[in-house]
Amino acid sequence: MAPLAALLPVLLALGAAASPTLLITPSAPTPSLAPCLAAAYHGKYGAEHVFLASDACVAESAGLLSAGSLVPTLEDEVVVWVGRAGVEGAAPFSAEGVFAQIQSAGRKFLPALLAAEDGTQKVFSAPASSASLSLLHASDSALFLSVPRAALPVLDTLLPPHYVPVGVAPSPVALGWDVPAHYAEHLANVTRHLRFRPDIATVVNTIDADAIRRDVRWLTGEAPSGIVSRHSFTEGARVAAKWIKEKVEATGADCEYFPYLEGFSPDVLCTYPSDSSERVILSGHYDSRGSFGSTRAPGADDDGSGTSHVLAVAAGIAAHNITFDKKVTLAFFSGEEQGLWGSHYWAKHLASENATVVLQIQADMLAYRVPGEPLQLGLPATIELPEAGWLVANVSALYAPELVVGRTEACCSDHQSFISYGFPATQVFERNGWIADPMYHNSGDLADREGYDFDQIASIAKVTFATVLEVAGFKTK
Ligand SMILES: *[C@@H]1O[C@H](CO)[C@@H](O)[C@H](O)[C@H]1NC(C)=O
Ligand SMILES: *[C@@H]1O[C@H](CO)[C@@H](O)[C@H](O)[C@H]1NC(C)=O
Ligand SMILES: *[C@@H]1O[C@H](CO)[C@@H](O)[C@H](O)[C@H]1NC(C)=O
Ligand SMILES: *[C@@H]1O[C@H](CO)[C@@H](O)[C@H](O)[C@H]1NC(C)=O
Ligand SMILES: [Zn+2]
Repeated sequence: MAPLAALLPVLLALGAAASPTLLITPSAPTPSLAPCLAAAYHGKYGAEHVFLASDACVAESAGLLSAGSLVPTLEDEVVVWVGRAGVEGAAPFSAEGVFAQIQSAGRKFLPALLAAEDGTQKVFSAPASSASLSLLHASDSALFLSVPRAALPVLDTLLPPHYVPVGVAPSPVALGWDVPAHYAEHLANVTRHLRFRPDIATVVNTIDADAIRRDVRWLTGEAPSGIVSRHSFTEGARVAAKWIKEKVEATGADCEYFPYLEGFSPDVLCTYPSDSSERVILSGHYDSRGSFGSTRAPGADDDGSGTSHVLAVAAGIAAHNITFDKKVTLAFFSGEEQGLWGSHYWAKHLASENATVVLQIQADMLAYRVPGEPLQLGLPATIELPEAGWLVANVSALYAPELVVGRTEACCSDHQSFISYGFPATQVFERNGWIADPMYHNSGDLADREGYDFDQIASIAKVTFATVLEVAGFKTK
């Protein structure tokens, strides 16, 4: 919180601390950065760049950084960025106000949440005393919090509904500066050569809104699945993960669970066999978030819609006996609501394998349409590789002309994890402009309500499916 120059002597006087120092700066890193600092880069969050460096490295680099804040970090705690989700008509940002709300939520709701049993579901198991979050830094529009590991499972339940967390990468982001140019060039070339293909239209036109309806209702518990919540730490999330895995396996994919942090229900990763080393990834997050203080989290729109849209693509792959040239993975993430953790750890794993991901598309909230507005497809206004968004927009015009394509302020979903590790990614969303769903992060996020539109999910599924077919290359048997 203090300016760099003022804090530096204090930190140096404290001597070599075991935990690194958090350096938050609006200045983008440049190639002239000290090597120790370049190796300590943990990515961009909102408008700010984050480093976690030793005090010696910070001292060595001070002259290179004109602006920024230095804050000591705490042992056994993770750093989480908390920012505005992009909700229509949300109150202006006040760091003190938001932090006070978080603290009072901890006092008010946590004891009840920790004790809650919802049917057979033990909802949380973190000790109540762990809910001691501290404020490390406040910027113009976001907070950086220090979160004890044991409090991660309940982080989403402490945040006001219009705020979302993004975990700061626990280890340095090796690829550093940006998505490499060759990825952008490849996608721009695909867009340049794009033309309407009747074979692709035939395949994507069989996307079935009724099948999507059945899947969403199963995930929310509106159909008798027994699921009350898909919060990452619930039994409901595990039931959903098993069901998704079996369903996609039946379409010819090899599916695996990808565990990443203790207690979180695992990601489900399903890959269609291919000899290619290049990957195309289509994803949604199957975990959900309920109202402030409630254990019920049906998540029909967020993100039962994106999850069921990926399931519809899987069904289409099987129905047309499609084999892909490149490796296509359908991914179902968890831990999204606590800070994009499931996607984070898998993107990190892919980066550690030097994987080539030619495109990743995240589908998060596809269903809600303000009554009277047209069918829409919103692409991210900020966090994406622009060439990825342009490709999706151009594909939409060819295969789902009923969608009005634009840009959305909705912030923060799993594609950000892929961007952080230097992979080309974008997101598809239900609306242009702000989030308007009145049941956003609410325990009333059910499918059976005004504005929840299965046809819009199906239209967006045509677009993502056609994009995957174009980029991955395919044959029908
Ligand atoms: C661009 O795309 C076309 C059509 O798919 C392909 O034939 C060509 O090799 C690509 N060019 C580059 C530079 O990738
Ligand atoms: C797909 O393959 C199965 C068996 O291999 C066959 O029965 C079915 O007719 C094929 N479907 C299409 C659309 O070609
Ligand atoms: C990935 O690339 C780096 C740098 O070229 C190399 O050191 C490392 O061994 C590679 N890792 C794998 C799993 O291939
Ligand atoms: C289609 O792609 C081009 C870049 O090739 C881009 O300029 C244009 O905005 C895209 N179309 C839409 C509707 O976004
Ligand atoms: Zn979501």
